[in-house]
Amino acid sequence: MRAVDWPSLRAAAAQAAGRSYAPYSGFPVGAAGLLVDGTVLQGTNVENASYPAGICAETALVGVLVAGGHGRGDLVAVAVTDPDGGDLSPCGRCRQLLHEMGGAELLVNERPMHEWLPGAFTPEDLT
Ligand code: THU
Repeated sequence: MRAVDWPSLRAAAAQAAGRSYAPYSGFPVGAAGLLVDGTVLQGTNVENASYPAGICAETALVGVLVAGGHGRGDLVAVAVTDPDGGDLSPCGRCRQLLHEMGGAELLVNERPMHEWLPGAFTPEDLT
């Protein structure tokens, strides 16, 4: 298991939060994901005049992950923060998206996914 430098990961999330496009909520969120190879990816929330069309920071992060050729099992840890690096709680939908990519042992703000989303619906449930 790769050691997680949480201060650095939170700093990357905070940087992404600083680039957020959240003119409607005024609530910037950043996400940073550490991969098994040490790569750090970032995502931020992007809102829209059609309010429900906005996307969360973690959703953006998952998109970047997959677009970069990575997938299930590559994600080791995720930080979700405000622009000051303060931890934020991932919403329910984002917990589901992160669980799909990182599994039950993925660390999110230093806690495993199985604590954030107990009894998760997983790909195995479809078989
Ligand atoms: N938001 C996130 O980016 N991630 C979450 O897990 C919770 C909420 C965003 C969505 C919206 O742009 C703003 O925070 C207020 O809800």
